[in-house]
Amino acid sequence: MENRAVYMTGLNKMEIREIEVPIPKEKEVLVKLEYVGICGSDVHYLEHGRIGDFIVNGDFILGHECAGTIAAVGSGVKNLKVGDKVALEPGCTCGQCEFCKTGRYNLCPDVEFLATPPYDGCLMNYIAFPENMAFKLPDNVSTKEGALVEPLAVGLHAAAQGGVKLGDKVVILGAGCIGLVTLLACKAFGATNVIVVDVIEKRLEYAKKLGASCVVNAKNENVLDKIAELTGGNGADKVIETAGSEITIKQTPYLAKRGGTIVLVGLASKDIIEFDFMQIMAKEVEIKSVFRYRNLYPAAIGAIADGKIDVSGIVTHEFDFKDSKKAFDFVIENKNDVVKAVIKI
Ligand SMILES: NC(=O)c1ccc[n+]([C@@H]2O[C@H](COP(=O)([O-])OP(=O)(O)OC[C@H]3O[C@@H](n4cnc5c(N)ncnc54)[C@H](O)[C@@H]3O)[C@@H](O)[C@H]2O)c1
Ligand SMILES: [Zn+2]
Ligand SMILES: [Zn+2]
Repeated sequence: MENRAVYMTGLNKMEIREIEVPIPKEKEVLVKLEYVGICGSDVHYLEHGRIGDFIVNGDFILGHECAGTIAAVGSGVKNLKVGDKVALEPGCTCGQCEFCKTGRYNLCPDVEFLATPPYDGCLMNYIAFPENMAFKLPDNVSTKEGALVEPLAVGLHAAAQGGVKLGDKVVILGAGCIGLVTLLACKAFGATNVIVVDVIEKRLEYAKKLGASCVVNAKNENVLDKIAELTGGNGADKVIETAGSEITIKQTPYLAKRGGTIVLVGLASKDIIEFDFMQIMAKEVEIKSVFRYRNLYPAAIGAIADGKIDVSGIVTHEFDFKDSKKAFDFVIENKNDVVKAVIKI
């Protein structure tokens, strides 16, 4: 067994290094990783060295969307065995705090999340990981699909936070990876009319392919007028913001129906944004937000296995492990074309 990891060694710098194969502790499994997805956050760390207060300090391993096959198990592992395919949920939480104990573990202040400084990510051959954060993939779910469970979980959490249900009309702002997995999640939750807005035609084409009822290019149309027209002047039951732009965040109050819900997923580059609260008050609109996800890996894997959600259409590019640097360069240079790139380990 040989282990190598891709290290970020500075801004836009990467190199592959030999590292030790970790020995799984009592309740850990050793996973031979097969696919790691490249997330917007990985790219952001590589280009800028930080996201908010999380600052890359020294050499750092990126990657948190991953799946692979179990190569060894610790002595206390009960439910998984060598040869099982698993998807890893990247946030290990304390299990003790108020948030963990009430099942809202995504809010745990002591979370250790892969590729969030100071914790290294998983762009490597072998990782040791807690058994309870490794979720078994059924035979008919590939490890490539397994690596997409992480972004899908964000979309599922967005739909869950919005209470999306059968028959809902939903507007999704942004058709990047997160917008598209949110589309898949809303459809799986029963939304019957999902309108997706973006400024890049190619991304809107993906949205159409993945089941959007209607797409709006904000470059060519007035979004507020168009959505009003498409919703009979009423607005949408649920408005989910995944673009992370000031413009789209500001649009949300006007797009929601009376009594509707806004779900904020996108992270804007600015902390404070002017927002029309009079619209919110007059329409009694609820505002929800999303921080990653919780308790959703089993549901996500079940939905993929059952064919309720097809994530395979999200992957637009695939690279080999040895070409990891090329992969990141490509993603940076072709941001409009790449929805999700994955690295085959
Ligand atoms: N809350 C969370 O837990 C969480 C988790 C993951 C990602 N995110 C955030 O979600 C956002 C989306 O992530 P992504 O990976 O899909 O990013 P992305 O950049 O691929 O997608 C954003 C999309 O928004 C579109 N857009 C930009 N301006 C627009 C406008 N005015 N109108 C309509 N569309 C517009 C872009 O063209 C792009 O397709 C990011 O801000 C990311 O940080 C949040
Ligand atoms: Zn991610
Ligand atoms: Zn906790």
